[in-house]
Amino acid sequence: MSTVPSTNPLRAGRRLRAAPEPSTMVIFGASGNLTHRKLVPSLYRLFLEGRLPPGFTVVGFARRDWSHDEFRSSIREALEAAGLPNVGTELGRAFLESLFFCPGDFAEGPSYVSLRELLDRMDHERVHSGNRVFYLAAPPSTYERVAEGLGESGLARPEDAAGAWTRIVVEKPFGRDFESARRLTGVLRHWFQEEQIYRIDHYLGKETVQNILVFRLANAIFEPIWNRDHVDHVQITVAEDAGVERRGGYYEEAGALRDMIQNHLLQVLALVAMEPPAAFEAEAVRDEKAKVLRALRPPSTGQNGSTAVRGQYAAGVSRGGRVVAYREEPGVASDSRTETFVALRILLDNWRWAEVPFFLRTGKRLPKRVTEIAIQFRRPPLALFGSAVARGLQPNLLVMRIQPDEGITLRFGSKVPGSTIRIHAVSMDFHYGSSFQQRSADAYERLLLDCLVGDATLFNRDDAVQLAWRYVDGVRGLWEEDGSEPELYEAGTWGPVGARRLMGERGREWRRP
Ligand code: BG6
Repeated sequence: MSTVPSTNPLRAGRRLRAAPEPSTMVIFGASGNLTHRKLVPSLYRLFLEGRLPPGFTVVGFARRDWSHDEFRSSIREALEAAGLPNVGTELGRAFLESLFFCPGDFAEGPSYVSLRELLDRMDHERVHSGNRVFYLAAPPSTYERVAEGLGESGLARPEDAAGAWTRIVVEKPFGRDFESARRLTGVLRHWFQEEQIYRIDHYLGKETVQNILVFRLANAIFEPIWNRDHVDHVQITVAEDAGVERRGGYYEEAGALRDMIQNHLLQVLALVAMEPPAAFEAEAVRDEKAKVLRALRPPSTGQNGSTAVRGQYAAGVSRGGRVVAYREEPGVASDSRTETFVALRILLDNWRWAEVPFFLRTGKRLPKRVTEIAIQFRRPPLALFGSAVARGLQPNLLVMRIQPDEGITLRFGSKVPGSTIRIHAVSMDFHYGSSFQQRSADAYERLLLDCLVGDATLFNRDDAVQLAWRYVDGVRGLWEEDGSEPELYEAGTWGPVGARRLMGERGREWRRP
């Protein structure tokens, strides 16, 4: 009888079922938004489902002078505000009692010594494994210092002889350009080995983003047409109806190019465009994604406007009410040139995708919150039903809806009943909600669990991050070169006119999702 080969996709199933070992998670930035709104609620949901290991312990680290109990009440309020069940019951209390707090200053060595002492005590009393995850949910300007603090206090150790491991999770933004990303990698790699570093991009934890690979590679019918012979172009849209909300200060420094394109959109593009990996394993998947990012054609001088468009929202109507312009948002300069919208025309210089444009767009204060990938196929080679019919015929389109209303739609032409040939576009639809009863795990739940299990497949590797920055720096260079300002667009519309121009050849148009 033959054994299951190591590249069998079943391995992926086994991998996902692995149970995490007892461990402690230290969250730097424990008083912040991310910890309260995403990280701890996700850990709590995992706890309620019995998916956290026995003795699992969270240590919050921040500059507040909180006691363990004060940290617990702050988290308790956040869990209640999120409408999570059982917070006031014995179960909820058991979770809250697994939370501890270590007051400390990121910049000061003694804080890391106190942390180490607390961790040693936790290991002795509760965890009994020595396994640790350090989660950087603090402002990015602290990352290098925290890595050094951990390193200098001996907390960054590699796996020891008894198998106790240490991992570090780094939130985006990972640097603000190629150079700073390289420097940050240098500091992290001075203290940690690459296998210990988990660069998180929450888009990769979304159920529907993972389904891109399953859809492509667990079905035999799509992959043969997934290339330049059959695909006319690809559109990737990540639209938000929200404005910058209370993040004006951060956003002024970032802008949509750094905030969304460098990470989420280029990662999604890599999943759509990559070659099938030899195995569904971290290194094989990440090798293929990196090859796509390496194939991004650098934007060249003089191409602004036909390659990269940026916009900024003016006042308008959104979610049924008047909203202010970006420049009037709190924390934003009244003459700000930060872009809140980006549209790109990207070419990949590789065999599969040569000359097939990938159009990416993302923006705040667009008409609705929607993320989707649309693959538009070429028209049939022959107008068999007459040229008038062919002109009205819409090309085949495959739309993968990432959020909301997650699902997949395939559009094709069908004969309208009657004695003459008339063709009308119809569609086949798949909706997650109606096909599967169970709740999809939140992106952070999946990624936190993967990190505890030691599976880095859905995390970014050093080379991918740097390749994405290299491309993004090129786009920024184009904008700086011609000194143009972002084009204004009215809040609640699909972005600036320039975005349409970018598309406007061969009758291509942006979709109105
Ligand atoms: C974050 C960005 O990474 O992603 C935000 O910093 C953005 O500006 C958010 O709003 C969008 O994520 P999601 O999961 O709501 O699509």
